[in-house]
Amino acid sequence: MGEIDPAFVQGQEHRRKLSITEAQGIPEIDLSPLFHHQLPNPSAIEGLVKEIGSACKEWGFFQVTNHGVPPSLRHKLDEASRLFFAQSLEEKKKVARDAITPTGYHDTEHTKNVRDWKEVFDFLAKDPTLVPLNSDKNDSQVIQWSNPSPQYPPHFRDIIKEYIEELEKLAYKLLELIALSLGVDAKRFEGFFEDQTSVFRLNHYPPCPYPHLALGLGRHKDAGALTILSQDEVQGLEVLRKIDQEWVLVKPNPNAYIINIGDLIQVWSNDVYESVEHRVIVNSKKERFSNLLGLFPSHFTEVKPLEELINEENPSKYRAFNWGKFLVKRKSGNFKKKNEENIQIYHYKIT
Ligand code: OGA
Ligand code: NI
Repeated sequence: MGEIDPAFVQGQEHRRKLSITEAQGIPEIDLSPLFHHQLPNPSAIEGLVKEIGSACKEWGFFQVTNHGVPPSLRHKLDEASRLFFAQSLEEKKKVARDAITPTGYHDTEHTKNVRDWKEVFDFLAKDPTLVPLNSDKNDSQVIQWSNPSPQYPPHFRDIIKEYIEELEKLAYKLLELIALSLGVDAKRFEGFFEDQTSVFRLNHYPPCPYPHLALGLGRHKDAGALTILSQDEVQGLEVLRKIDQEWVLVKPNPNAYIINIGDLIQVWSNDVYESVEHRVIVNSKKERFSNLLGLFPSHFTEVKPLEELINEENPSKYRAFNWGKFLVKRKSGNFKKKNEENIQIYHYKIT
C-alpha cells in the first residue's frame, strides 16, 4: 500500500472539513445497571432505556462503558489481529476472500466508488451461515458460507470465536434496550437472529502518506441491525452529526465500545431511528486497528417496519424485502464494476 493509487484519491467533497472537538462528541452510556442482577432496579433500567432512546434518535451513535465484555479477551483479540496483519501480503492472501466465500482477507474494499486505505479480515459469527444462492427472487436455493482457517497467529479462530460470543451477549442486551425505548416488547428483535448472518470484521488502516487525499473508509452507513465497534487509541472515526451535518471525531476510549444503529433498525422502527453516515480518516504516521461485529438477521427474515409502530396516521415507509437476497446482492456488488451502486434500503422506500 506504499504508493498512492489514483483510485484512492478522494474528491473535494470527501476532504476533511471542520472537525468538532471531542468534548461535543457522541453520547456515552454506562451500562452497569444491566449487571446488577441481585437487585434489579427498575428505575435504573428505565433511565438507561431513556438514554439509549435519545442517543439513537439524536445521534444514531453512542459509546457504552461497563458493557460486560472481559478486557482480557479484548486484549487477546487485539494482539492476534496485529500479528495477523503484520504478516506478508502473500501469507495473508492464503486466506483471501473470493466470489464463493466472501469471508477472509481482502484489501480492495470500495465505498462510494473509491478505494479505501485499509485491509480487512472477515469472519462469520455462525459457521456455516446459510444464505440464498443468489439475489434472484424466484430462486429459493440456499447455500452455506463458512470461515477460512488462518494458520497464524496460533488459535486465531478460537480467539475470534470466543470474543464474538461476548460481543453477541452485549448486542442482545442493546437490542432489548432499543426495543424498550421504541415501546415494543424487550425480546421483539431476538427472533430475527435465530439463524444469524452476522459478520465480524478486523480492520487495519496502514499509515497513509497522503492523508488529505485519501480516506481509510469512505462515508457509508452500516447495513445490519446494529454495529459494535472497538477502535484502538489512534483516532480516525468520524460521525456525521444529525443536527448540523458536521463530521465529529469519536474520541478513543479503550474501555468503551462504539455502537451505531444500522439500516435494519431504521426500517424496523419506521424511521424513528436512522442509521447515520460515518467514515474513517487516515493518519500519515500511525497505523490504526479496529474491529466490529455487524449484527445481521437470518437470511429468511422479511424486513419491514414493526406492526406495533405503524397505523393509519403513521403508515409504513418501506416495502418488505428479504434480508438474504439483500445481503447477497450487496456482497456480489463487491466483485462488480466500481461504478455500479450497491443495493440500499432507500430502494424499498415508499414515496
Ligand atoms: C466499518 C466502519 C469504522 C472504523 O467498517 O463499517 O465503520 O473505525 N469502521 O474502523
Ligand atoms: Ni461502518
